Parts: sequence; C-alpha cells; structure tokens
Amino acid sequence: MKKPDLKRPIRKAVFPVAGLGTRFLPATKVLPKEMLPLVDRPLIQRAVEEAREAGINEFIFVSGRGKSLIAEHFEYQPELVIALKEKNKTDLLEKVRASNLESGIFSTVLQQNPKGLGHAIWCASKILGNEPFALLLPDVMVLSEGKGCTAQMIDVYNKTGGNIIASAHVAKQDVKKYGILDVKDPKSRTSAIKGMVEKPEPAKAPSTLSIIGRYILQPEIFTILEKQKAGSGGEIQLTDAMQTLLKTQPFTSMELRDPYFDCGHHTGFIEANIAFALKDPVFGAQMKKILSRYAKG
Ligand code: UTP
Repeated sequence: MKKPDLKRPIRKAVFPVAGLGTRFLPATKVLPKEMLPLVDRPLIQRAVEEAREAGINEFIFVSGRGKSLIAEHFEYQPELVIALKEKNKTDLLEKVRASNLESGIFSTVLQQNPKGLGHAIWCASKILGNEPFALLLPDVMVLSEGKGCTAQMIDVYNKTGGNIIASAHVAKQDVKKYGILDVKDPKSRTSAIKGMVEKPEPAKAPSTLSIIGRYILQPEIFTILEKQKAGSGGEIQLTDAMQTLLKTQPFTSMELRDPYFDCGHHTGFIEANIAFALKDPVFGAQMKKILSRYAKG
C-alpha cells in the first residue's frame, strides 16, 4: 500500500461546538458556550481568527442542536451595516465586518448526539476528505504576544510533518482532568510522542504534560475513529484514536510557552477575561485601575 504523504499543507480547520456546556449552566441553557464573549468577541470568533492568522482559509464547525447562533455570528448582516453607516460608526462597522466569513469558506456539519470529541471530529470527515487539518477547541484560549498557537504549530509541522499536539504542564493532581502525553525528550519544546492516555490517575500518569486543545491531524485518524469504542467518561475519545494512529504515524508534542485558559469552566473563563482585558489596547489601562481597587480587598 502507498504510504501517505505526511507533509501536505494545512488548509482546513475544524471547530467542534456541539458539546452541551453543562459546567456553564444555566448560562448555556440557550446560549452556546462558544458564544460567550472574551472581552469584546465570542470565543468562537477568536478561535477562527487564530486559524486565519495561521494561513488557514476553510472553516468547519461541528455543530449540534440549538447551536445555529454560532454560524449566524459569521453571517453578513445588511441591516446592521446600513444602521452603522447611517450613524457614521466606522469603527464598529469595521469590527462587524471583521466578524463575517466570506461566501464559500465555512460550513457546518451536525453531530446529532454529543457522544464525545472523537465522534465530533469523525462527523467532519466527509467535508475534510483525505487532507490533514487543524483542530481547535474554541473553549481553550491562548494569549499569544507574537504568533498564535496554531501558527506556531504549523511552523513545527512544516519541519516534522505528521501529527502535532500542543501541550502544557499541569499540576500533578490535575492530570486526571486531561489527556496526558508521554514524550521522548521532556526537556525539549518539541518532542516525539511515545504514548498518550486520557484522564489518568496521578499515580499512573506518564508525565504532567497535558493536551491543551490544539491539534494538527492526518486524515488516517478517521478510519480509526469510525470504529472507536467509548472510553473515559463513556465518550468516544479522540485521545484513544490518536493512541492507535501513533502505531503507524509520528506525533510531535509542541509545548506551548504562552499563557492559555480553559474557558470551559467559570474561573478559567473569568481569569481569561481579566488576562485578555489587561492586554487589550482599548481596555487595558482602565482594567488595571479597576483591578487595583479590588486587589485592596
Ligand atoms: P468539553 O469537554 O468542554 O465538553 O468539550 P462540553 O460538553 O462542551 O462541556 P461540559 O463538559 O458539559 O461543561 C470541548 C469542546 O468539544 C466540543 C465542545 O462543544 C467544546 O467546544 N464537543 C464536545 C463536541 O463538539 N461534541 C462532543 O460530543 C463533545
């Protein structure tokens, strides 16, 4: 059988947005978690911007019931444009324009039941076809001063090819919340991956290097996902499928050195808003003053 070319360019990005967001209830009863704002724009818009900045120009949302707002957010809204033009609000007009996605570059597929991240990715397989792709979990936000996380990963991919996983160290007691990597060279920023395990007990974890929610994957993952049985938490786990793919393809860990935030729970989301607001050119100075008031207790 012909060996797959593991260095083809990354042109497409997938955003799984079909989860129930139960940790954020009741806020997420109607509003999708991915539409929660990080300072001035929804999480999903920031994730799309990160992919765009990395040179990706096709966007696929794996969506679920009651999540149509997510695709709507990227639609051109003529009434809004007319109203802003009439009021001469050019800065807002520019912000609204920046949130549109042009015709033909984004699509939505349905995951009828949120059976897990692995299943969500498999749902995009027909659209992705036989191409490598970037995968961004929109509830993880990276605060990069320079290149974004996906762009950094593509730089690594251009050298190594194969599959890339962004990672970061977590506290030992927290490994049971994440996918954890076993890497060849733990001291290096990029290293070949030897193994991975979803939500291990701290005593059994191979390291404290966790998978953060940014991946570059080869399409051979789909044949594995098709047959993947439910794993940890009764969900079809992407980590289990990647562990199988690791037997035939190289995986590289890229340790992220930028701050990142898990916006899937309250404190992570609130901290992200503080951190992003402090770095924001419009709100930063004002936020510093506000925070110093609260810091006094
Ligand atoms: P989470 O693990 O944060 O799950 O998903 P969740 O359902 O959104 O939130 P909780 O745990 O109930 O609070 C990470 C990302 O994967 C998507 C989610 O929408 C989120 O962006 N996801 C998860 C799916 O698209 N489908 C699934 O079956 C599970």
